[in-house]
Amino acid sequence: MAVETAKALSGKDLVGIAPLEPGEIRLILETAEQFLEIARRPIKKVPTLRGLTVVNLFMEPSTRTRFSFEVAEKRLSADTLNFSASTSSVTKGETLVDTARNLMAMAPDFIVIRHSRSGAPHRLAKLVPASIVNAGDGINEHPTQALLDAFTMMRRFGGLEGLTVTIAGDIRHSRVARSNTFLLTKLGAKVRLAAPASLLPLGVEALGAEVHTRLEPAIEGADVVMMLRIQQERQDRLNFPTQREYYDFFALTPERLELAAPHALVMHPGPMNRGVEIDSSVADGPRSVILEQVTNGVAIRMAILYLLAGGHREAADS
Ligand code: CP
Repeated sequence: MAVETAKALSGKDLVGIAPLEPGEIRLILETAEQFLEIARRPIKKVPTLRGLTVVNLFMEPSTRTRFSFEVAEKRLSADTLNFSASTSSVTKGETLVDTARNLMAMAPDFIVIRHSRSGAPHRLAKLVPASIVNAGDGINEHPTQALLDAFTMMRRFGGLEGLTVTIAGDIRHSRVARSNTFLLTKLGAKVRLAAPASLLPLGVEALGAEVHTRLEPAIEGADVVMMLRIQQERQDRLNFPTQREYYDFFALTPERLELAAPHALVMHPGPMNRGVEIDSSVADGPRSVILEQVTNGVAIRMAILYLLAGGHREAADS
C-alpha cells in the first residue's frame, strides 16, 4: 500500500482524521520529524509563526493536550491566549458561537478547541475565518492524539503498514479510539478494538476494525497495546460491576502483556487510572512509551500549526 506524501494540507482546519487523505497524514508525520529536533536545542524557539495569534479554547479539562499546544505555539513564536471555561463568561451563559465571535473580533489566526459536544470544532470551522484545530470533541475525534500516537509507532517501527494495534478499554466513549482507528486503517495497520460488550459503541463494526469482548485474544501477537481509561464523565450509569472486577477482566497486567509480540509497545493517551485499566508495573515498565507519546505530541502540534499556516513561513530550522 504505497501512500504518497501530500504537498500541503487541503483545508484551512484540522477537525478530524476522517476527512484527511492518507497523503495529508503522511505529510503531518514527516513534518513532525523535523520539529522534534527543536526540543533538543538549548534555545527551543524558531520564528516560524511570529506575528500569528493562537487562542487555546479549552471548554473541558486537559493537562497534556493543552500544555502541549501551548508549548508548540511558544516554540514557534506565536502569541498565545489561553481560555478556560470556568473563569470565562461561559459561566454567565454565553454560548460557544458568541464566545467565538467575540474572540474573532480580536483577529486570532488559529483557534484550538476542546469541547464536550461532538461537532463543536466543525461548527466553528464553518463560522469563522481562523484555522480551527480540534483538541478533542465529545466522543467524536481527537485527531492530534491519533497523529502523535501514529508518530510514536512510526518512529519505533519505521512505518505503520502491517502493524497490529490493539486498542482496549472504554471504546464506546473514546474519541481517541475513533481517531486512531481511522488513521491506522488509512495507513495500512490492522486495528483490534477490545472492550466489555457494555463499553462498545453501536455499529462498531463499521469502523473497519476487528472487535473483541475479551482482552486476551485481542492482545495475542499485537505489536502495540493501547489502553484507554473508563470515561466516567461521559456515562450516566456504570457499565461494569466494580473497578476491581474491571481490573481482573480487562486491565493490562504483566501476565496479559506476555501474550503480545515480544517487541510490543504499551501506549496510553492519558490520563491513566492505575490499577483500573493498567497495572502500574506495565505503565512504568520497559515496553511503555507513554511519556514518549507526550514528547512527540509537541512536535506533531508544531507540524500541524506550521502546515495550517500554509507552510510559507520560514522553515523550522532556517
Ligand atoms: N490525551 C489527552 O487528551 O490528555 P488530556 O485530557 O490531559 O489533554
